[in-house]
Amino acid sequence: MRSMFPLLFVSILLWSISSKASGVMQNLQARTCGNANDSVPLFATNGGPLQDFFASTSTVAIASVIEHQGFTFLGVSARVFTTQEPSTTPLYLVYSVISNGDATDHFYTTSASDRALLIESGWIDAGVQAYIYPTQICGSVPYYVVYNSAQTEHFYTANQTQYQNFLATAGWADQGIVGYVLPDPPNCIG
Ligand SMILES: *[C@@H]1O[C@H](CO)[C@@H](O)[C@H](O)[C@H]1NC(C)=O
Ligand SMILES: *[C@@H]1O[C@H](CO)[C@@H](O)[C@H](O)[C@H]1NC(C)=O
Repeated sequence: MRSMFPLLFVSILLWSISSKASGVMQNLQARTCGNANDSVPLFATNGGPLQDFFASTSTVAIASVIEHQGFTFLGVSARVFTTQEPSTTPLYLVYSVISNGDATDHFYTTSASDRALLIESGWIDAGVQAYIYPTQICGSVPYYVVYNSAQTEHFYTANQTQYQNFLATAGWADQGIVGYVLPDPPNCIG
């Protein structure tokens, strides 16, 4: 009987350690993802006087480029967060302008150093447009960027078929993955 006590003590100790560890794991898991219910549509437009691509979560900004600059509405480009959620990173926007002030190219990036370099070389800082994942977690999908140097246009899409179609079209070059966004509708994770 006496020899049972240490064994019982060890089992209780182990049980208590493992239940604490699994509690910690659950907390980490819960903190890893943003709440997909907080995600909003990132609307896309393109065209305009200087053949540009512009995406925004602001319906006011989208309506303005359509009404005043003749941009074409392309639909929902992705779902993103407008405030910083767990594991997300800022998606910055900078744009270049010609002498009359018209934008020629909108450039979206998660790289603070690319953003800083472009601002130094005269691009306009439009701040943080959204928050997205820097790696493919939480049901996110790649947000691709392609570039047409003749049109000075960066085009962004989460649609892999559309991305492949661009790459197969003369004039468009692959610039890889900007970050990871939620598809529309979002996968039910987080
Ligand atoms: C997201 O919304 C669904 C449907 O309303 C709800 O069941 C779920 O608990 C919500 N998820 C979070 C993390 O709030
Ligand atoms: C993806 O792009 C292809 C080619 O443009 C299009 O046919 C398809 O409808 C798009 N898929 C979605 C889900 O929008």
